[in-house]
Amino acid sequence: MIQSLPFLGSKFTQMTLKKSLFVIFLLVTFSCSQKAREIDYTDWSHYGGPEDGSRYSALTQINKENVSQLQVAWTYHTGDATERSQIQCQPILVGDLLYGTTPKLHVFALNAATGEEIWRFDPFRVLGGENSWAGTNRGVSYWEEGNEKRILFTAGNWLMAVNALTGEPILTFGDQGKVDLRKDLDTELEDFLIVSNSPGVVFEDKLILGMRLSEGLDAAPGHIRAYNVKTGKREWIFHTIPQAGEAGHETWDPKYIQNMGGANNWAGMTLDYGRGIVFVPTGSATYDFWGGYRNGDNLYANSLLALDARTGKRIWHFQAVHHDVWDRDFPANPNLIRIKKDGKWIDAVAQISKQGYTYVFDRETGKPIWPIVETPVTQTQMPGEVSSKTQPIPSLPEPFMNLVYAEKNILNLTPEWESDIRSQLSNAIFGDTWAPPHPEKSLVLFPGMDGGGEWGGASFDPESQTLYVNANQVPWLIEMTPNASFGQVGQSIYTNYCGNCHGLDRKGNPPSIPSLIDLKKTYSPETLSLLLQKGRGAMPSFSHISAEERGILVDYLLGKADAENKKELEAESSKLYPRYYMKGYKQLITKEGIYGSNPPWGLLTAIDMNTGLKKWQIPLGSIDSLKAMGIENTGIENYGGPVVTAGGLLFIAATKDAKIRAFDKETGKLLWEAQLPAAGHATPAVYERNGKQFLVIACGGGKGTKSGDAYVAFALPD
Ligand code: HEC
Repeated sequence: MIQSLPFLGSKFTQMTLKKSLFVIFLLVTFSCSQKAREIDYTDWSHYGGPEDGSRYSALTQINKENVSQLQVAWTYHTGDATERSQIQCQPILVGDLLYGTTPKLHVFALNAATGEEIWRFDPFRVLGGENSWAGTNRGVSYWEEGNEKRILFTAGNWLMAVNALTGEPILTFGDQGKVDLRKDLDTELEDFLIVSNSPGVVFEDKLILGMRLSEGLDAAPGHIRAYNVKTGKREWIFHTIPQAGEAGHETWDPKYIQNMGGANNWAGMTLDYGRGIVFVPTGSATYDFWGGYRNGDNLYANSLLALDARTGKRIWHFQAVHHDVWDRDFPANPNLIRIKKDGKWIDAVAQISKQGYTYVFDRETGKPIWPIVETPVTQTQMPGEVSSKTQPIPSLPEPFMNLVYAEKNILNLTPEWESDIRSQLSNAIFGDTWAPPHPEKSLVLFPGMDGGGEWGGASFDPESQTLYVNANQVPWLIEMTPNASFGQVGQSIYTNYCGNCHGLDRKGNPPSIPSLIDLKKTYSPETLSLLLQKGRGAMPSFSHISAEERGILVDYLLGKADAENKKELEAESSKLYPRYYMKGYKQLITKEGIYGSNPPWGLLTAIDMNTGLKKWQIPLGSIDSLKAMGIENTGIENYGGPVVTAGGLLFIAATKDAKIRAFDKETGKLLWEAQLPAAGHATPAVYERNGKQFLVIACGGGKGTKSGDAYVAFALPD
């Protein structure tokens, strides 16, 4: 796959004089001069564009006046799309090369000016065997020292390094060019599902990396690790699920904490290079929707962590959701922002969320810029679950979407659709943002499972201190069901309600408390169920437990427990099973597939970060079939992020309608749009080569739209 390398000698030669006009050097001086740091906003060699992950470009060649003339400059076909594949990658630019990944997780380098493939690397050349994972990859990381230039990336549970100029694997890195991310987690087991998908950040000679995990109780703990970029050796680890003696350990159930997983970083992270602080957003602890084994707040799940990038030591943290049961992972890397509040410049960090809030903190102290108030929320009725009494609600910035699905939000564009949705709502809880999952009713989750904000993240314009964030505004349903493998569940229900009196071995304490072994000699399911409902003497009534749970318990006591092979039971008893499962990821939609809320369903919002107030908000995307019915301004679901430029533009694809658009960043006015070969569920990259500004987007489709294999670059005509 290695082709000629005609561009490699000229890494900086094409940086034209014009560049100095394009570049904005933001001087972070003021009181803390030792942290002074210039950021070159034309250098898009990081995930999120420049080194601060702002998705801001200082380039101005494409601007409000000429953006309507944009045309396709080149298209690169990766050639390996499959039926449901995606490309979520935001490519990076180093010298003349554009680096990205394909649907099958091959890594490539293209001539950034022409789209010509320079090299391509199939990870299975090193790993052997077939591509056995259906993963996605959001980008790669670049590191250089002298003549040594590397691309670091992950494929499934493997971290790999290749030569950035040739694509040849670096065999001195890790074990023959690869590092197994299942190892070195400070756990006894190493048999975990790990599909790292967001690129790590490079700091000095370290790559700091998160990972994506199973959402079940089999999940690995989501510890954050730093690897030596030269050797692949683990340099430090931060336990996102604290070990005994570490702060935060007390926010878990000590009995089960060593079995707990999740609290992982799949969203990417952002580094403050001047301060040497890495900001790491984490996801929820597992099992996501029933937390009966993890009573407590569960630090450092659902948290924004500020870690010392050299040591991994925690500087501060903020937890956005205590004891999460809604899968409210932080979805994107945070933005480093510099804002002016009450006449003072503040270096802050802003974290968007699935739940529609943006949380903003002083970078060094973690002090909220605007008050974040612990607010009482609805308590759970799930058996075995203890919910958090309060959740932290930011007073500002204004949320970037509706936060409640109320009566007035029920889809009513046509009477048919309305009655379809209303019938689905007949046994549902809605109108309460923080209502927890319920054992018998379905719960309308709004903002939905896919946000709110998503993995595309937000872009920040340092010139105007404006944050741009796209969001989905569609309702989802959470339905819980008791665990079907109820040999275990029966046992845990029994343990919960009955074990303290009748003993965990069910032998009771005769004569005062009878043995419950061999109950089937004296009870039928009906009579036992009746006894449980009514109680008898010192035996309390259990009419408050759900019929489903009672059924499981009766089955368990009348045979299952005795019939179970004892050995099997013993083997199984070390494993944990959630008592309730969420039935499956499901949107609240009509049978035609129309979202169950009144539009808009996709949003793009500009927030003035000096005041925390919205500047503008518009529907993002459109649906042709509804337009034909005269229904406009609906927006549509979107995945992938925005980029903002000094040319006055906000570029975003992301929408399921497979378009890419440019908006006036000051007003939100649509200035240009183009149809893509497949939905651009990714974040564009903006760069300049040979005096020409390019805008490139991965068009991988997926998420219910047709898959694609192309990267498409746009530029002005010559
Ligand atoms: C507070 C202690 C306590 C708890 C909790 C308790 N029991 Fe009992 N249970 C008793 C006592 C005491 C009796 C004897 C009642 C009597 O006959 O006067 C009894 C009797 C029974 C019997 C009748 C046994 C027989 O041979 O007639 C059954 C069945 C039973 N319990 C099942 C359960 C189950 C199932 C649970 C959990 C859902 C449970 N108990 C929880 C104290 C308890």
